[in-house]
This record gives sequence, C-alpha cells and structure tokens, in this order.
Amino acid sequence: MINRWIPFLCLLALPSSTLSKKVLYDNWKLYRFYPCNAGEMSLLLDLHESNLNIIFLQDLNRHMMNMQEQFMSVDILLSPNYLMSDTFKTLKDKIESHVLAENVQKLIDEEAKHIVESGSSLNWDSYGSIGLINQFLGQMAAKYTHVDLLDMGVSAEKGIPLKVLKISSSDSHGKIWISGGLHGRDWISSAVVTYVINELLTSKDVDVNNISEFYDLYFLPVMNPDGYDYSQKTDRMWKKTRASTNSNIGCVGADANRNWDDDSKLDDTFPNPCNNTYPGDKGFSENEVVDASEFYMNHVANDTNMFLTVHGYNQLILLPYGRSGGRFKTEDAFDEWVGVAKKAARSMSGHLPRKVEKILLPHEQFRIGNISDIMGERHGSAVDWVTKQNSKIELALEIGLNNLSRGIFVPADQIKQKGIEFMKGLKELVIYFNGKTTTGDGDSPQCLPVEQTIKPSLYCFAGNK
Ligand SMILES: *[C@@H]1O[C@H](CO)[C@@H](O)[C@H](O)[C@H]1NC(C)=O
Ligand SMILES: *[C@@H]1O[C@H](CO)[C@@H](O)[C@H](O)[C@H]1NC(C)=O
Ligand SMILES: *[C@@H]1O[C@H](CO)[C@@H](O)[C@H](O)[C@H]1NC(C)=O
Ligand SMILES: *[C@@H]1O[C@H](CO)[C@@H](O)[C@H](O)[C@H]1NC(C)=O
Ligand SMILES: *[C@@H]1O[C@H](CO)[C@@H](O)[C@H](O)[C@H]1NC(C)=O
Repeated sequence: MINRWIPFLCLLALPSSTLSKKVLYDNWKLYRFYPCNAGEMSLLLDLHESNLNIIFLQDLNRHMMNMQEQFMSVDILLSPNYLMSDTFKTLKDKIESHVLAENVQKLIDEEAKHIVESGSSLNWDSYGSIGLINQFLGQMAAKYTHVDLLDMGVSAEKGIPLKVLKISSSDSHGKIWISGGLHGRDWISSAVVTYVINELLTSKDVDVNNISEFYDLYFLPVMNPDGYDYSQKTDRMWKKTRASTNSNIGCVGADANRNWDDDSKLDDTFPNPCNNTYPGDKGFSENEVVDASEFYMNHVANDTNMFLTVHGYNQLILLPYGRSGGRFKTEDAFDEWVGVAKKAARSMSGHLPRKVEKILLPHEQFRIGNISDIMGERHGSAVDWVTKQNSKIELALEIGLNNLSRGIFVPADQIKQKGIEFMKGLKELVIYFNGKTTTGDGDSPQCLPVEQTIKPSLYCFAGNK
C-alpha cells in the first residue's frame, strides 16, 4: 500500500531539474534488417541520417556503400510513431527484416532486475553497477599480493574513479592490456573483463595460470564509467561519454572510440554533438580517453605489449586501420594479426551450433578485417592510435563478442558463457603473443591454412527481394 505512494511523493518533493528522468522505450521494437544490395543499404543510410528518434545499434556510414558484398545485418530500435508511418511500411516492403524484440522496454525492465549495486558481491549472473565493479577491483587488490589497483584519473561528469587493476607476474615477458566499457551501453564487455580478472586469479587451469605467470596484465573494465552509469540508471541506449560539448542545445558526450587522435583531423561524418557517433570537439577532448592513453603510454607501451578492447555484441574482430596511412611494425604484421584473430574467433564461437536459424543468427562466425574494410572508414579508434604510437605493440584488436540474437541486450544469465568464450579466444591470442616475446622477432606466425578463411557472409536469403 505504502509503496504505491512513493513515486508520487518523490515527484512532489524534487524539482524536476534535479531528477534525471528515466528514458522509456515502451512499445519500441528492435528490428533487424538484411540489406542485400546498394539500393537497400542506401535506404537504411538515409534513415540513419534522418532525425526520427530512431536508434541504430551499429554505426553506419556512407563508406559502406562501397562494400556491398559485406553488408551486415542492421539492428535498429524503432519508436511507436515511426512504426506507424508510411516510410516504415515502404522500408519493410523493400528490405527483408525480422523483429528481435516486440517491446524494448520489457527487455530493459527484465535486465534492470539483474543489476547489482555496491555492498553486495560481484557475480557473473548479473551486471554490477560501476560502484560494485570498482569495489570488486579493490577487494582483489586487497586479497592478492600480486594485484594492485592503479588510479588513472576520474570521469568527466560524475568524477567516478577510473581504476586499472594490475596483475603482476613473477617473470614478465611482456604486457597485456584488456579494457571494456568504452561505450556506455556495452555492459557485457565490462562483465567479461571482470570475469577474466576473476579467472586469472582463481582458475586451476594451467594455461590460464600460465598467462598471469608470464605477463603483466592491466585491466580497465569500464573505460567510460559516466556512460555506463547513465545507461544503467537513465537511458539504456546511452553510448557516448557524458562531458559537455560546444552544443548550444545542451547535447553531451562524444564517442570514445572516435576520440583517440592527435592530428586534429577528426571524423567529420557526424559533426553534430547530438549524434551518437560525434567524435568530440577535438582529438583527445574526452577525459577518459586522455587518461587511458596516458596510462597506456606510461605503464604499458614501453614494453612488448598486446592491446585488446572488448566491445558488446556484433561478432567481429577489428584490426587497425580505420583510415588510410597507418603503418604496422612489420610488413607481415597485418596478415599475422588476421591469422591469429581467425584462430581466436574459431575458439570463441566453437560452441555455436553449425546450423543456426539464419534469420536469428546470420553470422555463424566472426567477421574479421580492418576497421575500414568491415565498418567503413572510421577515425580515432583506440586500436588505430595504439598501433600507430608505438613500436613495441605486437597485437591490437577490437573484439565484438558474439551472439547477435538480442542485440546489445545480452541476458545476465549469458555472462558466464561470454566469459568462457572470451577466455578461449584470449588463450589463442596469448600463444601468438608468446611467440613474439620469447623469440624477439617471432618465428611462429599463427597463419591458418587457406581453407579456414572466414568469408564475409551475404545476408540475402532465399525469398528476399
Ligand atoms: C546528427 O545530428 C543532426 C542534428 O541534430 C541530425 O539532423 C542528424 O539526423 C543526426 N544524425 C544522426 C545519424 O543521428
Ligand atoms: C607456459 O608458458 C611457457 C613460457 O611461455 C611455455 O614454455 C609453456 O609451454 C607454457 N605452458 C603451458 C601449459 O601452456
Ligand atoms: C618510454 O620510452 C620513451 C622512448 O624511449 C621515453 O622517452 C619515455 O620516457 C619512456 N616512458 C616511460 C614511462 O618509461
Ligand atoms: C584494409 O585492408 C585492406 C586489405 O584487406 C587494405 O587493402 C586496405 O588498405 C586496408 N585499409 C586500411 C585503412 O588500413
Ligand atoms: C544466443 O543468445 C540467446 C539470448 O540472447 C541465448 O538464448 C542463446 O542460447 C544464445 N545462443 C548461443 C549459441 O550462444
């Protein structure tokens, strides 16, 4: 009885400006489209560039028009208004599509039951709040003598501490950086990074122990804590940082994976601070990006190292570069990185059934390639910057975890599975890295036999127009 009155009293008691009102997605639908030629892709791009209160889960850009054979499925949240429009009817007639979720708010409400706040203990059946994740990192540092918690800085909006957990080896052959949560809404990436920390500290598996025995590891589970917190508390779809911008209508935040750039020629595809892929007012305008890049340079870059940035769903492994002009340490590096990425992808998707229902899981395997080939030209990503910066880097990958079936809404009961899969991939990556660190020059590129090549899939099915 009493409970019913609480929301009402709260509304009376607080002026609306101090409430951050929860963004609701009642009766929004999550659609997956399967564009199968340039014309269809173009329709989706038009929609992407219009301002209809439609939310794309992936970044689309015009460069994709040149890459027809790799068109991916495109996941979009559509508002009830748009769903009733004629434009939508036309779109639906023209492009094969499938509804992934009938009512997005229901998914969000379900997820919200599985968010655990600080004070409890972190587990991998639920999503931790940023407070709980930082608490977990502190507990690990207190418990293990070879674990330290290093301060990297604080987030721009809320001053949330940016904490890096370091696991020191007794006999370091090199350094491994693993970060998640660059985009606020990619909760699963942060959960997977904390899973890996826990595995490395507690596993009895000799391969896993070997990783922490021979490498110093640096973990940053939530690179964009303001965005993560805002996504959990206010707007599930929030992706950017939360810093103020030059917007005169108060739009905040930049895409923290387009802001790693010191030559000031930022991506001009989405110059408006209200866009989800806004790269920032200038390169390194975002606190969190500056702090992470400086930390990386000061603690990691001067030794032989490997840099992994974990993202939410999308089932892809991206290599540098997103823009032309980038160099690799050696001529063979790109091909070697593709080779080891394929191995990791194979281990990570090993449990996926061979025949899956096409409509639900069009990509049975990971797509692998440089950012430019897979996503179209994109500037200012973390992997581009670290690869360009230092000559000691032996591998830099952006890993989008698998299982596309529910978009970014990975149910909490899938976290462990994602963690297990990622660990399998990590083992492959470490084998490659190990070859680089023990022989100096590396005489063991992990190239796959040709028949293993994972072809980009086409998403045009029988019955599609
Ligand atoms: C970018 O922002 C501008 C201005 O608000 C808007 O017109 C445009 O539709 C936005 N594009 C995307 C992809 O959000
Ligand atoms: C552990 O690492 C060492 C050195 O990198 C390697 O020689 C050894 O084969 C590894 N052992 C296992 C079980 O992976
Ligand atoms: C890393 O190496 C560079 C070049 O040798 C040097 O200038 C810099 O001081 C080193 N940084 C650290 C943190 O050791
Ligand atoms: C991406 O890789 C392709 C080869 O697949 C290469 O031709 C192209 O130059 C690369 N682009 C960038 C920006 O590195
Ligand atoms: C994919 O994810 C869905 C829920 O998001 C889950 O029910 C399903 O078991 C997963 N499939 C695989 C093969 O992991």
